[in-house]
Amino acid sequence: MSTISPRVESILRRYKMYVTSGQAFKYFPLVVSRAENARVWDIEGRVYIDFLSSAATYNVGHSNREVVEAVKKQLDKFVHYCLYLYHELVVELAEILVKNTPGSFEKKAAFGLSGGDANDTAIKASLIYTRRPRLISYTYSYHGTTALDIAVGGSFKEDLRIAIPFREVYFTEYPDTYRCGGIDDPVECGEHHLSELDKLVKKISGYSVAALLFEPVQGDGGVLVPPRNYVEGVRKITREYGIVFIDDEVQTGMGRTGRLWAIEHFNVEPDLLVAGKALGGGMPVSAVIGRADILDSAPPQTYFATSATHTASVAGALAAVKYVLENKLYDRASKLGGLATKRLEEMKERYEVIGDVRGLGLMIGVDVVKDKKTKEPDRKTALKIIWRAWEKGLIMMTYGKYGNVLRIAPPLTIPEDDLERGLEIIEESVKDVLSGRVPDEVLEYMAAWE
Ligand SMILES: Cc1ncc(COP(=O)(O)O)c(C=O)c1O
Repeated sequence: MSTISPRVESILRRYKMYVTSGQAFKYFPLVVSRAENARVWDIEGRVYIDFLSSAATYNVGHSNREVVEAVKKQLDKFVHYCLYLYHELVVELAEILVKNTPGSFEKKAAFGLSGGDANDTAIKASLIYTRRPRLISYTYSYHGTTALDIAVGGSFKEDLRIAIPFREVYFTEYPDTYRCGGIDDPVECGEHHLSELDKLVKKISGYSVAALLFEPVQGDGGVLVPPRNYVEGVRKITREYGIVFIDDEVQTGMGRTGRLWAIEHFNVEPDLLVAGKALGGGMPVSAVIGRADILDSAPPQTYFATSATHTASVAGALAAVKYVLENKLYDRASKLGGLATKRLEEMKERYEVIGDVRGLGLMIGVDVVKDKKTKEPDRKTALKIIWRAWEKGLIMMTYGKYGNVLRIAPPLTIPEDDLERGLEIIEESVKDVLSGRVPDEVLEYMAAWE
């Protein structure tokens, strides 16, 4: 096990003392000092390949020159002026988003600072527009941490959710084609879950439901790609009952899955699309883009925040969106995702602990199991693999409903050599863990995703 320097030990100790445990979600003890494209340096000068991209934020790479220059240019003029006044960059960003999101109806945009606050906005808009009290969400979903987001967050534990007094959320299971209760065929799995949703809307009355929150790939559930018939069926049900279909693209958006938005893999137009993370190229900005009649149904102060439409962040976002579009980063995600998946599939053939490799584009999950037949998840082995990978110079995390999925989400701009080396490190780490070279003590550092 790597020794941890006194400087790093001291930072870890002070974190424990001064930063709330409500924000402690740490994996290995890496203290960041600098980052560029797909590489991150720690305070001791060690360099790492980044397969996490700050949780799928740096689709355009760390410190993307165009984003940094656009932000600097804005900072030299003024940092931000609140939305009592107009700014040209804001309308430019709204326009480019409206023109580059699915939906052949009149659309508008509402801006925020995080994926979570944008989901909150989308939910609020749906409740106000429909005047209906209920929401449908998914088990193991994640939409952020505002009070409303927690109420709809299927990955939060029950005792946290009951502390939030919004009781009108109904959960349905997200299709998991790898573990679909004995159903092997993805289409049948989709049909099974559609009939579950159908039963739910009949039981609670679909006409009492304001919105359904949908992740087009369920990220934190463990990179679950839904069957096409399921997504199209959900859209049909929501249309039938007038339920607002909210497409949460905070993690999947901006080219990551091989399309600009993941919902484009399916033949579906959402009512509202929620973007965050990669939208700002690293700057804090989020947006809800969608039906003007829904967004405009709320009075003017409903989505107000002093720092919403933050001018420097909007400048960064505009540069990031243009960078993704001009460089067709979605195509690059597709190509590199194909290469990575092929390499990981080869590893699956070689190692009993790799049960499943799945995803779209450069949003890939590797399901670590005790044995391939039972598919029993192996969180401990997954955590040891990522610890060893960190020691060898790769940043990669775990997530998923069982906490056993290796999360592979590098910048879409990652050079092929770095991608290749990162994949090699994964294989070396699997071998080291299987031969007992990673002790149990490392698990003490990993609060991680459970
Ligand atoms: C699908 C999804 N929605 C919403 C969020 C919340 O975004 P933020 O952390 O920017 O509030 C996340 C964050 O991981 C996410 O993955």
